[in-house]
Amino acid sequence: MNESAPQNSNCRILLPSVLEFLSRGPKKLLIGGKWVPAKSGKTFETINPAHEEVLAIVAEGDNADVDDAVQAARKAFEGGKWPVIGPHQRARYLFRIAELIETNAKELAKLITLDNGKPIEESIAEAARAAETFRYYGGWATKIYGETNPSDPSLFSYSLREPIGVCGQIIPWNGPLSTISWKVAPALACGNTVVLKPAEQTPLPALRLGELMLEAGVPEGVINIVTGFGPTAGAAIGAHPDIDKVAFTGSTEVGKLILRASAGNLKRVSLELGGKSPNIIFADADLERAVALSARGVFRNQGQVCCAATRMFVQESIYDEFAERIAAKANEIKLGEPLDKTTTMGPLVSQEQHERVLGYLKLAREEGADTRAGGERGPQPKGYFVKPTIYTGAKNGMRISREEIFGPVAVVIPFKDENDAVIQGNDTIYGLAAAVWTRDLSRAHKLARALKAGSVWLNCYGIIDPIAPFGGYKQSGFGRELGMHSIELYTEIKSVYVKL
Ligand code: NAI
Ligand code: MG
Repeated sequence: MNESAPQNSNCRILLPSVLEFLSRGPKKLLIGGKWVPAKSGKTFETINPAHEEVLAIVAEGDNADVDDAVQAARKAFEGGKWPVIGPHQRARYLFRIAELIETNAKELAKLITLDNGKPIEESIAEAARAAETFRYYGGWATKIYGETNPSDPSLFSYSLREPIGVCGQIIPWNGPLSTISWKVAPALACGNTVVLKPAEQTPLPALRLGELMLEAGVPEGVINIVTGFGPTAGAAIGAHPDIDKVAFTGSTEVGKLILRASAGNLKRVSLELGGKSPNIIFADADLERAVALSARGVFRNQGQVCCAATRMFVQESIYDEFAERIAAKANEIKLGEPLDKTTTMGPLVSQEQHERVLGYLKLAREEGADTRAGGERGPQPKGYFVKPTIYTGAKNGMRISREEIFGPVAVVIPFKDENDAVIQGNDTIYGLAAAVWTRDLSRAHKLARALKAGSVWLNCYGIIDPIAPFGGYKQSGFGRELGMHSIELYTEIKSVYVKL
């Protein structure tokens, strides 16, 4: 093993293929079908957040590398094999990628857990979802229809849906494989080419997927991967004059920077940003189910989920009972080594996130919330662990109730009636998701209409299926991903007139 090999105390439970991938030397950029070092020669370390140990050394791409990647993507789009490959063949590539993700799912899952820290069972589910999304968009490749537009008998008009061109895709670290599938699969299904920038915290699953995409035979330049940091590699994608569309998932703050940068050449933009989602529990709800699934809704992936159930609004008459039960659920969570199958919560992704979340725990005490569970870092001597945390006595106006914490932290706030629940629920700058727990069917549907959120879950939480659109109202972004909506994001429409 060379110096980039993991010094990881968990080597014994890693698959040989994972060890082989990690120890193969510094990770490179994928540009024009070849793995190349960054032009500057610079590299950075990616860390295992459970042990604070170096997992691998990765090429640090910047402006110059993004430029090369865009040129490769442009060449593949305009003059390479890609434009002449028909939809049936494109579909086959996507099906093949889905199969390869499934064949290598265990390895990919371990890489997700090593790089991100989420429990292995969640990573296995993430790999399965990524494969499903590639397969779903493989199905779409042959169903991207145009229209015929009715007019006078002397005129024939039709519309074509065409790929946009070179797509820059900047993704976060919380779903390092699933967020790629949401962006790359529809982009390719529509016939675009891609320059992908994984998050600097979790480059490994993306790089392994890049290898699998080459194995699937995806032509050179169709997928390019530039690892590196946001203000350099990411900003270069946002500002690049020859990128036609940029898709971003991450913080609202950076989303605004991307939007500003896109003005240079009026790139098409889609943004999936932060959230502070209301999870509303009425007194008539199935309480046991509401407690169990609300806990999962906020604690999955250590709470580092854009649509996490972070603001729990509970009807006054059941407030105390709900608070007690959800705190008990939080205390049942097993915090620890994420590769261990019995672990239900791992560490946060990075030291930066750890400090950020611990800062909010301090703020919660200053703001006068009552700690019902957690409220402090985990007992582990190493690793970025935070105990699952529930605050009661919180008000919707407190900063801990308004700002995206992106950690395993929920506030429980009482409400009086439907009207109060809607007013408090909608009182946020975000609008990504919401949930309602009630046995009253009309109330459930009434609230689904009244809540300003891109996804509403009724008597469930956090279900996301590629069949349905996902995205935000307000400062949670704009554009809808998944379903047929991604086809809209990745195509231009052209109208053709024929005088008969
Ligand atoms: P971030 O928004 O800075 O990073 C997300 C992606 O954007 C990464 O690939 C990063 O390299 C890139 N990026 C950063 N600065 C950029 C720039 N100037 N131009 C172009 N790309 C840039 O998020 P970060 O710093 O990792 O986390 C901060 C907070 O953002 C979290 O605490 C959370 O509140 C939120 N967040 C939301 C996510 C979501 O799923 N909506 C995902 C990740 C973070
Ligand atoms: Mg950032």
